[in-house]
Parts: sequence; C-alpha cells; structure tokens
Amino acid sequence: MSKHKNELALCAILFLTPTYTTLHLSTPSTTNVMAFHFIFCLFAPILFVPLFPYLRNLFKSNRRRPPLPPGTLGWPYIGETFHLYSKNPNIFFASKQQRYGSIFKTHILGCPCVMISSPEAAKFVLLTKSHVFHPAFPASKERMLGKQAIFFSRGQYHAKLRKLVLRAFMPHAFKSYIPNFESIAQHFLHSSEGILVTTFHEMKTYTFNVALLSIFGKDRVVYSEDLKRWYYVLEKGYNSMPIDLPGTLFNKSMKARKEIARIVEKIMSTRRKMKADWNDLLESFMSDEEGLTDEQITDNIIGVIFAARDTTASVLTWIIKYLEENPGVLQAVTEEQEAIMRGKEEQKLSWEDTKKMPITSRVIQETLRVASILSFTFREAIEDVEYDGYLIPKGWKVLPLFRNIHHSPDIFPDPEKFDPSRFEVAPKPNTFMPFGNGTHSCPGNELAKLEMMVLLHHLTTKYRWHVVGSNSGIQYDPFAVPQNGLPIRLFRK
Ligand code: HEM
Repeated sequence: MSKHKNELALCAILFLTPTYTTLHLSTPSTTNVMAFHFIFCLFAPILFVPLFPYLRNLFKSNRRRPPLPPGTLGWPYIGETFHLYSKNPNIFFASKQQRYGSIFKTHILGCPCVMISSPEAAKFVLLTKSHVFHPAFPASKERMLGKQAIFFSRGQYHAKLRKLVLRAFMPHAFKSYIPNFESIAQHFLHSSEGILVTTFHEMKTYTFNVALLSIFGKDRVVYSEDLKRWYYVLEKGYNSMPIDLPGTLFNKSMKARKEIARIVEKIMSTRRKMKADWNDLLESFMSDEEGLTDEQITDNIIGVIFAARDTTASVLTWIIKYLEENPGVLQAVTEEQEAIMRGKEEQKLSWEDTKKMPITSRVIQETLRVASILSFTFREAIEDVEYDGYLIPKGWKVLPLFRNIHHSPDIFPDPEKFDPSRFEVAPKPNTFMPFGNGTHSCPGNELAKLEMMVLLHHLTTKYRWHVVGSNSGIQYDPFAVPQNGLPIRLFRK
C-alpha cells in the first residue's frame, strides 16, 4: 500500500517538473515567463497539498528503519510456545538472553514478541513510555479472565477500576480483617497436622479463602465451595491455546467462567435487595456512582481472584521451602515472631504487630526475588517504537522479564543464593519489581504481604516441618512452584 502511495507521489513529481521545465525553456516573452512564474507560485502549493502525505511517505520510507532485535520466531502461528512451556520458561529466557543480549525477539502464544531484560528497558516500557505500551495479554488469557478486567483496561476506565480496587485493598480497609486471616490460617494449619500435605495445594486453599473474604466479606461462607470448584476448572486453561472446541482445556475454562459469573450475579442480586455495609471489594465495585455493569464487575472479580490466589500461594510455598533449607534464617524469623507475643495477654496479632517484623519482611522480599514467580508481564506497542537502536514494531507484544533482572549478578551479587540480609539496603530503583511497576503495578501488594505475615507468624511459632522427597525442580501451575507442590509433614511443636 505505502509502496503504491510512493509510486504515485513520484509520478506526480515527474509529471509536474517537466511541464514546468518545458514551458520555461521554450522561447516565450519575458512577460509570459513572469506570468507563468506568478501562476505557478500561486497554484503550486494548492497542487502540492494533496500530494503532501505521499511525499512524506516517500521521504520516510527512504529514512533508515532500525532493525528488529536479534532472535528467532519459530514455526508459523505456534512460534516458540512449546519451547517456552515444555520445559522451564526461565531456561528459555536465560538461554535467549545469553545468546542475543538484553533485547531479543521471539513468537509465543500466537504473537510476535520482543523480550527485554534490563532495568532501563523495563522502566522505558512500564513507566516512561507506558502510553505507547498498552497492557495486552494473549487472547486465551484475556477471554478467560474477562476482557473488561483491570489488567487489560486503559485510560479513564482503568483509573476508575484502580481507585475502586485500592479503596478495598489499602491497609486502612483490610486491617480489621486480621482476626479473620488468623482464624483461616490456624484452621488450615490445624487440619494439616501430622499428615502428608502438598504445600502449594494447602496454600491455595488459604489464599483463596483470604481472597474471597476480601472480595465477598461474609457472603463467601455460602458460596466458597462452588466458587472453588469452578475456579479450579477455569485455571486449567490459563496457558492453553484459545481453541474453543468441545473438550479443549480452553472450552472447559470458558464454561467454568460462566458458572462463576452466575454465582457473582446471584450475590449481587441478593445484596441489591438489602441495605447493609459489607466493607469488601464487591461493595466497592457496586457502590461506584457512575456504575459498573454486572459484566464489568464479574470480569474484575474473576481477575482479582486470579491475581490474588496463586501468586500469594506460590510465594508462601517458596518461603516454606527456603526456610527449611536455611535453618539459621528460620531461627531468626521464629525468634522475631515469638518476641511479638511475649508478655501479651491476648495471643492475637494486631496491625501494629505486623510493623515489628523486619526479618520476616526481608524473607518475603528475598523469596519474591529468588522465586520471581511472575517471570514477566505483557504489553503491546501501539505504534512503532525505537529502543536501543532496535525497532519494536506496532502490534508486537513486549515482555519485560522481571526474573532475568532479579537474577542479574550485576544487580544482586550471587543471585541464586537465598540471602534475606541483602534487603537490609534498599534495592536501586527499577531493579526489584515483584509487584510490577507503573500504572498497572499490583494494588494487592499490601494485602499479600499481610496475609503472608499472619501465616508465617502461626507457622513458625507453633509448628516445625520437613519436606518429603526430592525438593529440587520447578513446575508451572501457572506460576513457578517447587516440584510436586512441595510435599511436607507438619508437626505441632
Ligand atoms: C505475592 C503475591 C502477588 C504478586 C507477586 C503480585 C504481582 C503482581 C504484578 C507483577 C502485577 C503487575 C502486572 C503488570 O504490570 O502487568 C500485579 C497486578 C495486579 N495484582 Fe498482584 N500480585 C500479588 C498479589 C495480589 C493480590 C493479593 C491481589 C488482590 C487482592 C492482587 C491484585 C492485582 C491486580 C488487581 C493487578 C492488576 C493491576 C492493574 O492492572 O492496574 N495481587 N500483581
């Protein structure tokens, strides 16, 4: 198309130039020449105005276009998806980075992508140029979580959703939930005593219950089993190709999604008939003055369950693994937690207590770094962008690789070593992004830290545990978790 336009522009120039030259070079009288000059100067701009876009394209196309980043695109449509998910995605990223450097191209989940793995590039995409890099996840993820979910939204709609989510997830809103978090944690630990449990599975139950409590408040009690059942089906399709045919994982996920939507609608219709304060995320969504549609609310509830449950459960699973492997660190955390309860009449945690856990906080930070359970996120270039001498073409996905940054030896020396003391000094800006960066950074990070602290308090002060079987290896479920979900036995001290 643009080639065609350029040809047209060239033809126009070639057509006009000889006409003028021919007229000018004949032997006319001086008056005629002057008259011609006058007429040409008068009409030339008018003639050139419609041609301007063509001329601009012509000159543009002659300008040097920067090259695409190095890398390979794999098979048509499938690209390198199987390479990415068949083994360990981190091996895929690390080997690509080793081969091509901190910016390279690939093709996954049906999309051409540019992957970036330096703090400067992550800042460029997520902060400085966030207006040209829009959140855009592969179609399977968008359709499963809901097109109108906060992750995929932009502009005013995104700002509104963020305000509503933050209203429910700021500490002043959920600190009153601490006793509920404690009873969920205690119940789960008590029911796991002495038996062989899969840590990730149990942690998912804990974080699911905490998520439902912060979304549905008291209403969660009635619906939690149904929500849990359907959500387990939904999540199975998260990394699937978006092929909606009977029997495919994606198809089953979409059906489960409809069931969850039905439950959310039921809860909303009951609430609309009552007048009460719920103090939860659903209330925040329902009380918006401009009004969110039921579909928008459902998309965002499913989105928040997804964002809240597996992420936090997988981080907790890694913490339990690292504490077992590092007895000195476990000892320090246990002493810190025991000191909080010493001399207290009521053995209950308060919001102020959670501010007295610096060692536990550093263990959480170091786990977020080493495990980097969200290895990357997705953005899409809405126009051609040049970065570091390479072209990121319009429509391509851009993936900042958080894990590669967190494992860079230049930023975190001896990066594979679990060493919480490295966080005694605050990390440099844009080098530590477990909760993302910029306008789409995680609004649930405070809630996640609080629920992890509550669980670690009860676990370290009342229990000891050992890992059963081999504890090396990683699996993706969809976030990184220790092999087999870390089977453990838990004993009361
Ligand atoms: C340790 C646990 C968690 C981790 C590591 C984590 C990580 C992240 C990251 C990296 C992002 C940014 C994604 C991007 O830029 O594309 C994000 C976004 C988000 N997270 Fe979390 N998260 C965690 C827990 C939670 C919890 C508990 C909630 C809710 C209760 C939550 C709700 C959200 C939401 C709603 C977004 C989307 C924000 C937006 O698009 O504006 N997350 N999370």
